[in-house]
This record gives sequence, structure tokens and C-alpha cells, in this order.
Amino acid sequence: MKNLDERTITQAVIERNSFSSNERLKDVMHSLVQHLHSFAREVELTEEEWEIGVKFLTDVGQICSPTRQEFILLSDTLGLSTLVIAQNHKKPIGCTEATVFGPFHVQDAPRLELGSNMSEGVKGTSWFVNGVIKGIDGQIIPHAEIEAWQADDEGFYDVQKENIDKYQGRAIFHADKDGKYHFQTIVPEAYPIPHDGPVGKMLEALNRHPWRPAHLHFMISAPGYERLVTHVFKDKGDYLDSDAVFGVRTSLIAEWVKHESGIAPNGEYQSHPFYTLDFDFILNKQKVEAA
Ligand code: BEZ
Ligand code: FE
Repeated sequence: MKNLDERTITQAVIERNSFSSNERLKDVMHSLVQHLHSFAREVELTEEEWEIGVKFLTDVGQICSPTRQEFILLSDTLGLSTLVIAQNHKKPIGCTEATVFGPFHVQDAPRLELGSNMSEGVKGTSWFVNGVIKGIDGQIIPHAEIEAWQADDEGFYDVQKENIDKYQGRAIFHADKDGKYHFQTIVPEAYPIPHDGPVGKMLEALNRHPWRPAHLHFMISAPGYERLVTHVFKDKGDYLDSDAVFGVRTSLIAEWVKHESGIAPNGEYQSHPFYTLDFDFILNKQKVEAA
């Protein structure tokens, strides 16, 4: 393969990659090369623009660390994460929809008893969250594992703060035998995704803001059901129509109900106004893999 030119280079690369014994890799690379070359042709990519692109991806890689995943931010802000989730989680109408995972989940969140306060000691407005975990036919799913995580009332996750000595604003609970869950926390605020790096610069160049509407993350697992990764968004909040990472779904917007001071769902007197959220999750049955 010599003297390759603008017309012949694409097929040459595809052929060179075709000896892999990994069929899926071969298919993915075939399509990737085809689309990448088509893109360069379509926009008539200049050498200077190619260099800017390479520098951008280098910067994205260099800012990554165990607590900063800039490639996920890039995927999220380009809508790729939402596309991949949408095409991999098609489910019957009525099931709770999935949305982006985000970069602030940790593997070792504290395990708390139902009813506990996962934001103990954090300043903010008290929030009492409860609901039921069910299947699509209304059947109760007992003892599901419910992991929740959230920003604080200034829009920061615990892992974004320096020198934290324990996790706050996150926990793993188990629903009871009737599928019910409830816990206490504080009301999280809308926040900007980390935008002091290359993805932030990209958003600025595109005249886009980095904000996400206020939300509470959930990951729910139960034997025999598809794992659900989702959020519950605050109704009437800002940025619901312009989420920086395209994660909002109407079915995930719920009323965060404000109450004046008085007896809260935990039976204790609250001297300040507090909020409640009542949200049921409907899980999809796990697909049975063909033998
Ligand atoms: C989040 O909601 O935690 C999140 C999602 C995508 C990008 C940044 C943050
Ligand atoms: Fe979040």
C-alpha cells in the first residue's frame, strides 16, 4: 500500500485493521475510521485545527486523576453518555428511566440503617426522602440496595472538598421487606460541573454554561432486575431545560415539597422549614441471556 491519497487512505486503514481475530474490535474500528475520516473530509480539517484537537485531547488526559475524570465530562457534555445510556437501557414504558452516572460516585460509600441521616453534620435545609422499589407489574421488590449521593447546599460533593475525613451526602441503604425506603439528608443545590479544565474551556468557546439542575443521584440494585442508575430532579428548578450534560428526563422531575416548621416524617420537631420527596422506583426485569 503505497501512494495513498485522500481517496484511498480510508480503505487502506480499514484493510490493515482487518486481521484482528476480535470481530467486535474489527467492526468498531472499521466504523470509527470511516466516521473519523468522513469528519475530516466534511469539515476540510486544516493541519492547525488537527494540532489544536490533539492538544485538547492531551490536556483532557493530563488533568485526569483518581478524583477528576475529564474524559467522562467530555463524553457527558458532548451528549455521548446520554446516547450510550439511551441505546443500552431501552425498557418498557413505566420503568424508571436511567440517566448519566457522573464522576462523583465512590466505591466505598457508608452503609446506613434505613431512616439515617446521610448528611449528618452538614449545614443545609433538612430533607426527608422516601418511596417504594417495585417491578413493572406493581410487585414489591424487597430489600433492594439503594445507593444515593448528592451535592451540598453550595453545589459541592464531599469528594470535591480537600482533606475530608469521612464521606457526607452519600450512603447505601436497603429497602425493607415491603420494598420501602426512607432516609434523611439536606436539599442539594444546582451546581456547575468542574469547568476549570479543557472541557470548561470548550464550553466557554461554545458559549455554553456548565450548570446542572439540582438533583439527587440513585443507583438501585436487586437480584433479577436491571441495575438502575438515575437521578431525581427538583421540579421548577433552574437549568432543567439546559442541563450541561443533557441528563434531564421529564419522568425524573419530582416535587420537592416544602413544609413549614413542625413535626417531620422522622417524628421529630423541626424548628426550620424542611422538605420531603416521595419517589417510587420501577425496575426492569433483567434480560435472560440466550444460552
Ligand atoms: C453529576 O451529576 O454528578 C455529574 C454528571 C455529569 C458530569 C458532571 C457531574
Ligand atoms: Fe450530580
